[in-house]
Amino acid sequence: MKVAVSYISSNYSLPETIKLIDNSNADYIHVDLMDGKYVEDNNFDINETVELLNNTNKPLDVHLMTMNPEKYIIKLSKLNIDCINIHPKTTEYPEQLISIIKSLGFKAGIAINPDEDIKEFERLFGDVDRILIMSVVPGKGGQEFLTDVISKIDKTIKLKDKYNYTVAVDGGINDKTIDNVKDVDIVISGSYICKSDDYNKAIESLK
Ligand code: DX5
Ligand code: ZN
Repeated sequence: MKVAVSYISSNYSLPETIKLIDNSNADYIHVDLMDGKYVEDNNFDINETVELLNNTNKPLDVHLMTMNPEKYIIKLSKLNIDCINIHPKTTEYPEQLISIIKSLGFKAGIAINPDEDIKEFERLFGDVDRILIMSVVPGKGGQEFLTDVISKIDKTIKLKDKYNYTVAVDGGINDKTIDNVKDVDIVISGSYICKSDDYNKAIESLK
């Protein structure tokens, strides 16, 4: 299992947190971008985001919690990106956007909210590299893992061989809730790691 670390909920400043993750055993830096429209908070300026992440070494796992995510793809493409995850309902043309992301050489993922059924998006499963199951309502770090999503995670794992994607789970992951997601490929964890004194110890406790 790989661990991606989200920096939005931390005891340290933003640049310090990113540096700590970059120097840790994390497999990816998870980049949560919120536009104040799709979710309530607005936490980024795209130019500042590019500057902030420009000199990091870890591959980036980008999570666009924004309307019209296509607006940001070209600027982000300068960065060391592994995967860009979008919420399919935020764009009129998710199929096209997925193929643009892939044509830039990145993996493309779709994020599925706790109140969304996988059936709504199964038509996209053959096109994507990753399914990101949200185990909290998107928009804030530090929320509790929603146990209701466990059956959805299991269903998504069962369909992996048919469609050929990896499964990631995002939100509320800590040393207690990790047992619910043992079989996923990637977990995204934020506050549990970034509010600890020892990032590597917290990451290892998940692995
Ligand atoms: C939720 C974000 C998550 C979250 C992870 O809106 O997409 O990536 O911040 O942080 P924790 O682990 O604190 O839930
Ligand atoms: Zn996220």
